[in-house]
Amino acid sequence: MKYQSQQVAKLYFYGAMLIFSLQIVFGLLGATVYVAPTSIPVGLLPFNVIRMIHTNALIVWLLMGFFGSTYFLLPEETENELYSPFLAKLQFWLFLIAAVIAVVGYLFGYSANEGRSYLEQPIVIKIGIVIVALMFLFNCTMTVLRGRKTVITNILLLGLWGVAIFFLFAFYVPDNVVIDKMFWWWVVHLWVEGVWELVMAAILAFLLIKLTGVDREIIEKWLYVIVGLALFTGILGTGHHYYWIGTPKYWQGIGSIFGALEPLPFLMIVVFSFSMVRKGGRDHPNRAALLWSLGCAVMAFLGAGVWGFAHTLSVVNFYTHGTQFTAAHGHLAFYGAYAMINLAMITYAMPQLLGRPPYNQTLNIWSFWILTLGVVAMTLALTGAGITQSYLERGLGEAYMDVQQQMTLWYWARLGGGVMVTLGLVLYLIAVFVPGRAPISNRLDSPATK
Ligand code: HEM
Ligand code: HEM
Ligand SMILES: [Fe+2]
Repeated sequence: MKYQSQQVAKLYFYGAMLIFSLQIVFGLLGATVYVAPTSIPVGLLPFNVIRMIHTNALIVWLLMGFFGSTYFLLPEETENELYSPFLAKLQFWLFLIAAVIAVVGYLFGYSANEGRSYLEQPIVIKIGIVIVALMFLFNCTMTVLRGRKTVITNILLLGLWGVAIFFLFAFYVPDNVVIDKMFWWWVVHLWVEGVWELVMAAILAFLLIKLTGVDREIIEKWLYVIVGLALFTGILGTGHHYYWIGTPKYWQGIGSIFGALEPLPFLMIVVFSFSMVRKGGRDHPNRAALLWSLGCAVMAFLGAGVWGFAHTLSVVNFYTHGTQFTAAHGHLAFYGAYAMINLAMITYAMPQLLGRPPYNQTLNIWSFWILTLGVVAMTLALTGAGITQSYLERGLGEAYMDVQQQMTLWYWARLGGGVMVTLGLVLYLIAVFVPGRAPISNRLDSPATK
């Protein structure tokens, strides 16, 4: 590792994996309630609280991973140390404490109960999040201003500033429920189908340069195209959430057209990643990191592109809106695009941060397959549930609870997929954090033995 200040990333990666584990525990609890509704007494832990902790933990660990990834790659890209490693550490602890207070609060019934998923944090926590974001942006912007500016740093900063700016709409809660929903999507949709995509593309580009040794110039041209497409389709694509909330009818046309184009940037990312691997000659010893990077491109395309396209046209969404199909898409898209990019970066960076050769490759590769196939199994189960639900409830007009009764088997299958995901995560954590037995040759020239 070339720059001492990259070490702060380690803290963020530990934090991210801790909260990822918390997310999975609450996912398992939620899935258990689905198949055995009385297994967890409602008075002790209601389903809405389980769900809230599951989705909030998801966002927190993904952001923590983005922060860590940024702190890891900025010194190498800008060719200078971080502006303030101290501020970066302080920011980490503030963020972690805010997240813990929020979770404990949820358990005791404190949340901003505005009916806005993902934005349930009480107002003081939201203010804390803004302070954390400002500390982060200040630190990163100063680092970039002092050092070399690359396309990767530009796009990453643009994305990160966008993440913070759109979060401000979390503070705007109009009384009118139509306007309320309109602006809620400015956070939720414009994050995952807008600015987060820029963050993902920048981190992926960094990993591909390191892992394949391909020329920076080639990557940069692609990045511009991907980012242009993401913004061109993603901004008006917000319309695919405006079909049934009370907005004017023209949104059905706008949302369908731009929503249908939204898979394009994800497709470009797949083509880009594989052509970089073909062009680059380097045979990097961390094969697992390359597998995660390519896997991320492919699974993001499937989850966001294919599963997203499937329900983005208003004529289809009329039947699938808010069914289990939405949850199927939500799981595969979030996992493929944003969980996997973080897992790729952690796989790449952790051995360097710990001063070891890339150990436990085989175990890491196993965890890749088990975790990914577990999420695929969950997605397929929820897709089955979603199709059943759309047909019986929306098509034939059967009553909601009667239909739920007929979906029990799918819910058991989802729980099965969840158990597989849990196993995959445990293997991943062992592979990345527990020192493995490296081959003697590696051990001799590892920094730890010098
Ligand atoms: C990585 C990127 C993406 C992520 C993480 C993501 C995640 C999600 C999530 C969590 C929801 C549920 C929101 C809620 O109602 O609470 C959702 C809804 C939706 N997504 Fe995505 N999505 C992504 C990309 C896309 C793309 C590219 C498309 C279109 C091609 C798309 C189309 C939709 C549609 C139409 C809905 C509304 C479903 C409904 O009416 O119930 N998504 N997405
Ligand atoms: C052990 C594995 C997991 C299980 C059992 C699980 C289970 C669940 C359950 C029961 C819900 C609530 C669904 C509802 O309200 O009807 C949920 C929601 C959600 N989970 Fe998971 N989950 C798991 C892993 C994950 C992972 C790895 C991700 C993403 C990286 C994820 C992302 C989400 C999202 C985005 C939602 C909200 C979906 C929506 O609003 O449509 N989950 N999950
Ligand atoms: Fe969307």
